[in-house]
Amino acid sequence: MALTADAPDDPRLVTNLAGLPLRTPVLTASGTCGYGPEYAGLLDYRRLGGFTTKSVTRQERTGNPPERIVEVRAGLLNAIGLANVGLERFLAEKVPFLRTMPTTVLVNVAGHSTDDYVAVAAALDEHPCVAAIELNVSCPNVADGLMFGTDPVLLRQVVAEVRQALRRARLVVKLSPNVTNIADLARAAIDGGAEVLSLINTYVGLSVDVRTWCPHLGNVTGGLSGPAIKPLALYNVHRVYREVARDARVPIIGMGGIQNTNDAIEFFLAGASAVAVGTALFVDPTLPVKIAAGLAEYVTARGLDNVAALTGQLRTG
Ligand SMILES: Cc1cc2nc3c(=O)[nH]c(=O)nc-3n(C[C@H](O)[C@H](O)[C@H](O)COP(=O)(O)O)c2cc1C
Repeated sequence: MALTADAPDDPRLVTNLAGLPLRTPVLTASGTCGYGPEYAGLLDYRRLGGFTTKSVTRQERTGNPPERIVEVRAGLLNAIGLANVGLERFLAEKVPFLRTMPTTVLVNVAGHSTDDYVAVAAALDEHPCVAAIELNVSCPNVADGLMFGTDPVLLRQVVAEVRQALRRARLVVKLSPNVTNIADLARAAIDGGAEVLSLINTYVGLSVDVRTWCPHLGNVTGGLSGPAIKPLALYNVHRVYREVARDARVPIIGMGGIQNTNDAIEFFLAGASAVAVGTALFVDPTLPVKIAAGLAEYVTARGLDNVAALTGQLRTG
């Protein structure tokens, strides 16, 4: 899928996730780069593996009361509350830009009911520029955000119904780490028809203002992201890969605290076939391109042909 003669794809980086073509295995993470126009002057989309939009819901949402973001040690706590323009406006106002993006586009979908998920996914499936739907069943910042992502029976059901409604787009299911056994949820998602898994979403956390004795966030709790969660995210990727995804041959998009090429390599070795960068984009919007370049160099230095050769190669003795 080379776009211009002067920028051919690097064969060391070209990735295919269960039929989802990526120029490089480095994507943006949902909610950290808007709907596309926001980063257009900052991040060269021609050199990005894939762009994931902010969550879209059936109805417009104003989100949680402020404050919605607070910086904590080694991370970020956010409680945006899925503020978004809703399906109708998304189709009218955001899809036209997505259509022009020279990269693979994934649209992240959230909902309150199976009907919500199916309606939004089916409407997006009509638009060829949407290469994949990423089901967000793992948002910790809304009242029922984790309902589907913590119950294997509900999760399998919602994934199966969305899968049935899709004729074209690939189906990615984004898992929550706020569960006792993430492998059970991964298995349920795959049984329901997930073609790709992405993990992790944020961890529920709290930050307190000692002057006022109030929480920093209007929602009281928020989702923790950034370097603070990287070892936890790696553990979850490793566990899902070893216990479920490897044998089911379902690729994993790994994320959580990735800040540089070495972080990304750790995720590949733990079992990821692609990675996404979220919080670190706020520091350096060009990071996905830099990480991809670093991966290409690493692959060559190791005598490998493609970054895919790293997936799951963690040596555990
Ligand atoms: C400000 C902010 C907003 C987010 N919004 C969404 C969202 O709308 N949907 C979603 O699935 N994940 C959302 N996430 C979670 C990220 O996509 C990602 O899973 C998580 O932050 C871990 O990656 P990171 O540590 O690189 O940020 C959000 C994260 C942040 C920091």
